[in-house]
Amino acid sequence: MKFSGSHILSISQFDRGDIERVFEVADRMEPYAHRQRVTKVLDGAILGNMFFEPSTRTRVSFGCAFNLLGGEVRETTGFETSAIAKGESLYDTARVLSGYSDVIVMRHPVSGSVAEFAAASRVPVMNGGDGANEHPSQALLDLYTIRKELQHQGRSDLDGLRIAMIGDLKYGRTVHSLCKLLCLYRNVTVVLISPTELQMPGAIVEQLRSAGHTVVESDVMEGSISKVDIAYSTRIQEERFADRAEADLYRGRYRLNQAIYTRNCEPNTVIMHPLPRDSRSEANELDNDLNDNPNLAIFRQADNGVLVRMALFALILDVVDQVDKNARDVNWYTERRF
Ligand code: NCD
Repeated sequence: MKFSGSHILSISQFDRGDIERVFEVADRMEPYAHRQRVTKVLDGAILGNMFFEPSTRTRVSFGCAFNLLGGEVRETTGFETSAIAKGESLYDTARVLSGYSDVIVMRHPVSGSVAEFAAASRVPVMNGGDGANEHPSQALLDLYTIRKELQHQGRSDLDGLRIAMIGDLKYGRTVHSLCKLLCLYRNVTVVLISPTELQMPGAIVEQLRSAGHTVVESDVMEGSISKVDIAYSTRIQEERFADRAEADLYRGRYRLNQAIYTRNCEPNTVIMHPLPRDSRSEANELDNDLNDNPNLAIFRQADNGVLVRMALFALILDVVDQVDKNARDVNWYTERRF
């Protein structure tokens, strides 16, 4: 794909070469994200960060990524404080905000809304999550993390990957985008573990099978997570249910802790989660007793989000080759972070 000036709305836009390009640029962002070097390549540029659903990581890491490239961030969070609460259309908001920004990241509860917004925008728009549909930057950082974790184990190839996805696969947009991304690779085994009512949408299962992948569906976690390289846990997407009581039917169904891990997983199985993990006792999908497990990659995964989002901004705003020019070393305390 041509990155320069493009919207990033869906994983379907990417081919395998594009993914390699994003990862290669993400690697080059490490000195900046890891606070060794400072660059001002986006000095003067403005990111409009528009989040109409709760977010910590995605909103802050997009903002940090832009700041780390030297740009400024303007934000709106929630409908209550936005003119959408006064009845403004997505079209009008897009026309206006794209006059104030050089690039926009948007999260919205309605599937397809970010694409609708992008169609009216005068600047590139990135999908920070549209309802239960897609979360492309998360899938990219997830695959980037998988690749890095496997490289750490001495494996260089994503082909032949074995991954279990656990939890709310019906409403979880991160796993939807991740499955689409895995379709670009070869000979992947995808174990889909969810309550029957929250299974992965049939169209995505079909896409995986058409890509030649092995798909196994189960409603039981123990046993199904043996023989996988990656165990990717997800949260019950409470906000997509009619009410809390309905979400409670599924909350806590799959709990991974150290004992279950030791009993079922291979010694190197990497544990991932897009976060936030629901740590309330009634859910506790990834127990805190995993925190010292070296294969718990969830915080490395969140750190990687900054690298991948910096790469996307650098590619879309076409500054990749200028990042290292005029860079300097940092001059503040930066020990022990990464
Ligand atoms: C995810 C999301 O918003 O889809 N969070 C994130 O962006 N890292 C997953 C979730 O909220 O459960």
